[in-house]
Amino acid sequence: MSAFAPGRVNVIGDHTDYTGGLALPMAIAEGTTVTVERGGDVVRLASDDEPLPAIVPLDVAEPSAVEPTWARYVAGVVAELRPETGARGTVSTTLPVGAGLSSSAALEVAVALSLGFEGDALALARLCQRAEHRASGVPCGIMDQLTAAAGVEGSLLLLDCRTFTVTPVPLPAGVAIVGVHSGVPRSLAGTAYAERRAQCAAAEREIGPLRDAQLDDLVALADPVLRRRAHHVVSENGRVLAFVDALAAGDHQLAGTAMNDSHASLRDDFEASTPAVDALVDRLAAEPGVFGARMTGGGFGGMVIALCDAEAADTVAVARRGQRFIASAGASVRTG
Ligand code: GLA
Repeated sequence: MSAFAPGRVNVIGDHTDYTGGLALPMAIAEGTTVTVERGGDVVRLASDDEPLPAIVPLDVAEPSAVEPTWARYVAGVVAELRPETGARGTVSTTLPVGAGLSSSAALEVAVALSLGFEGDALALARLCQRAEHRASGVPCGIMDQLTAAAGVEGSLLLLDCRTFTVTPVPLPAGVAIVGVHSGVPRSLAGTAYAERRAQCAAAEREIGPLRDAQLDDLVALADPVLRRRAHHVVSENGRVLAFVDALAAGDHQLAGTAMNDSHASLRDDFEASTPAVDALVDRLAAEPGVFGARMTGGGFGGMVIALCDAEAADTVAVARRGQRFIASAGASVRTG
């Protein structure tokens, strides 16, 4: 049997998921396929892109210590799912690793399905989020795994990470999402991510859930760093809704402005960008036919995206050596 899970781009709403906030990602056509035959007492997966296979015993205790590194994600899923039978097979992917397109979430979701996970998209995402924590030690939110599990063709997904509801928001035919890799490797991403998450938690200990906070409430935060982090989160939740409203009203320019503002907030308040990413965002935002541009995902390098007029999207993608992303369905299983 074979399981496929897509990568994602997040159109707006970053560093909001782990405080129960709002995000607006989409699953993309690129993704990871795991093909296995069940049997034995290890999970053994080979990949054309990796010199060494993943060989994970069913009773693996410490996924973060498994080698090679990519096998940790397989081990994380095995440790969470605890399948009774092993599997032997292959992994192939059309996702660039380290670009910020959630290749690890796609791998986790595809592995879980190939090992017989049964349950709904939210349960699948939660299991894979725990697997990611175990594998990488990075305390990620649920956005990437939930998008891989619950993607809807042609739609962005409005994720409410407090209620865990997923509301499809059709991407209008007149616009398209183009992504360009900044060329900056996301090497410090894990440490900085954990630090940002801890800062948001510290802010919440002082003023309560950021999801409920208003911008006026933030003056109560004495530490200027915590205040800026919280300012990003509270304003970003508002921008997600503003973006959805602008799309519904057909005001693509206003939607693009929300994306530009999101980037400025991630750059200045959340300090999750890099100079090379900022420069690329500025260049993209200035292209004809581009309504707005921003970093996407965890940041600290990786992918930059633009909201483009659909007719200009291919030209922008070629000019910037990027690619157009198609809003796609979530994970699926093929038996036989
Ligand atoms: C990473 C995490 C997500 C989310 C984003 C930032 O992709 O895995 O849970 O927090 O960063 O929005």
